Amino acid sequence: MLALTGAGVSAESGVPTFRDGGNAAVWKGMPFTVISSGKMVQQDLPAVWEWFDYRRNLLRSLQPNAAHRELARWQETFPEFTLVTQNVDGLHQKAGSRNVIELHGNIWRARCVGCDSRFKSEAENRPDACPDCGELLRPDVVLFGELLPHGAFELAAQAAAECELCFVIGTSALVYPAASLPELAKAAGAFVCEINPEQTPLSSVCDEVLTGKAGEIVPMLCKS
Ligand code: OAD
Repeated sequence: MLALTGAGVSAESGVPTFRDGGNAAVWKGMPFTVISSGKMVQQDLPAVWEWFDYRRNLLRSLQPNAAHRELARWQETFPEFTLVTQNVDGLHQKAGSRNVIELHGNIWRARCVGCDSRFKSEAENRPDACPDCGELLRPDVVLFGELLPHGAFELAAQAAAECELCFVIGTSALVYPAASLPELAKAAGAFVCEINPEQTPLSSVCDEVLTGKAGEIVPMLCKS
C-alpha cells in the first residue's frame, strides 16, 4: 500500500494549502516564489531564514489531525506501507509515522551549503553554521528552481510501481514529479483512490474518488 499526501492533509491542522492562498503570500514585498527560491538562498540567505523562521513559528504549535494519526496507524496495520509526502511540516512524524519519504524536504531540518550534511533544527535558536565544516546552513526544503533530494523520488517511484493500492490524499496533483506517482501506480495495475474535497487532474484516472476532507474520510476507511 502507498499513500501520497499533499498540503490538504494538513489543512485541518491549520496549515494553509498552497493553491488556496498560501502561495499568494508576500514576505516583505517579495512573492512566495521569490523568497522561497534557490536563487534567493544564494543572494540573501538571512532573508530566506527570516521567512522560514516566521513559517516555523506559525507551525510550531500545530498538531496532527485525525488523518495524520490514522496514516500513522496504517503503518502498524499493514506490513508493507509506504508514506510519501510533499509536505515539509513534519506533522506525519509528529503523529508517529516513521520512514516517511519526504519529496520536498522538512522545515525542521537544516542542510549545510558546503558539505550537504543535514541536521535536525527544531529549536527557535537554531545554529547558523554547520558543526561539521563551519559553512552556512540553509533550510532543508526544496525551493523554487531546485531539484528534489537525491534518491527520494526514486524510492517513492519504486514503491508506487510495486503497490496494489494507492491513496492520493489532499494534493492538487499539479506538481511533478510527485503527481506522477499515482500515474505510475495505476500503470502498474494498482487500484488508485483519491481523497480530496475538490476534483483534480488525477480524478479522472482514479478508480475511486472520495470527495471530502482527509480528517473525516481517512479514519473511516478501515472501519468499513
Ligand atoms: P495544493 O495547495 O496545490 O493543493 C492542496 C489540495 O488539498 C487541493 O487539491 C485541495 O482541494 C485539497 N484540500 C484542501 N483541504 C483539504 C482537506 N481538508 N482534506 C483533503 N484535501 C484537502 O498543495 P500540494 O498539492 O501539496 O512544493 O502542492 C504541491 C506542491 O506545490 C507543494 O509541496 C509545494 C508547492 O509548490 C514545494 O514547495 C516544492
